[in-house]
Amino acid sequence: MAAAGAFLMLFLVSHLTTNLLMLKPDGGEAFNAAVDFLLTNPVIKIVEYFLFAGFIIHIILGVMLELYNKRSRPINYYVAGKSGTSTFSKFMIHTGVVIFIFLALHLYHFFFVKIGLVDVYAGAESAHDFLPMVAQTLKNPVNAGIYIFAFILLGFHLKHAFQSAFQSFGLNHDKYTPAIKVIGTVYAVLVAIGFSVIALYFLFLYQG
Ligand code: HEM
Repeated sequence: MAAAGAFLMLFLVSHLTTNLLMLKPDGGEAFNAAVDFLLTNPVIKIVEYFLFAGFIIHIILGVMLELYNKRSRPINYYVAGKSGTSTFSKFMIHTGVVIFIFLALHLYHFFFVKIGLVDVYAGAESAHDFLPMVAQTLKNPVNAGIYIFAFILLGFHLKHAFQSAFQSFGLNHDKYTPAIKVIGTVYAVLVAIGFSVIALYFLFLYQG
């Protein structure tokens, strides 16, 4: 579960970096060049299979872990905060479910267009012309609101996930764990803010 999660965390850095190129005021040149690279590189095609496998494995194991934990302790602690776990760790399944729902909507918005399951948006030149599709999706306040809500919960999910992955790999150390926690928090905040900035940019500023 941690290995799949770590892979997904790396994907998020790459996905955020590519998407931030949409904010460059160059008519989408840099972003389209990055999309072309991703679409034509055979290694990326293979990585995409791993990505979807990673999501599926992570989700199945996450649900199994939750069911296992529930069975081990069917009655909650009487006094809140006595379990010794952080607030973030207790809500992993809840934040995970919201991210899953976001992902289904998100794939419908863009990935399903790419693979031909959903019609290309009016105003887009092809199924790979993502900039106008993203702009149309995120200038809608309902979509932008759902996205930003999901990004905030994604941040909470990642905050715990980052340090938890290190723990699962057995890399727990009195000296390094506090630093890992700080790096995890910075990572989670930057991912949540980075994606939210993109949504806010298209909602309020983009003049395409
Ligand atoms: C404002 C924020 C975001 C924007 C504008 C955005 C945009 C896009 C676009 C245009 C695509 C289609 C590209 C393609 O399929 O090659 C895509 C695919 C995808 N996005 Fe996002 N995305 C955002 C946030 C996220 C987040 C937070 C996640 C994960 C939690 C995510 C997960 C994915 C996945 C799994 C795919 C399919 C990957 C693939 O085809 O290789 N996206 N996104």
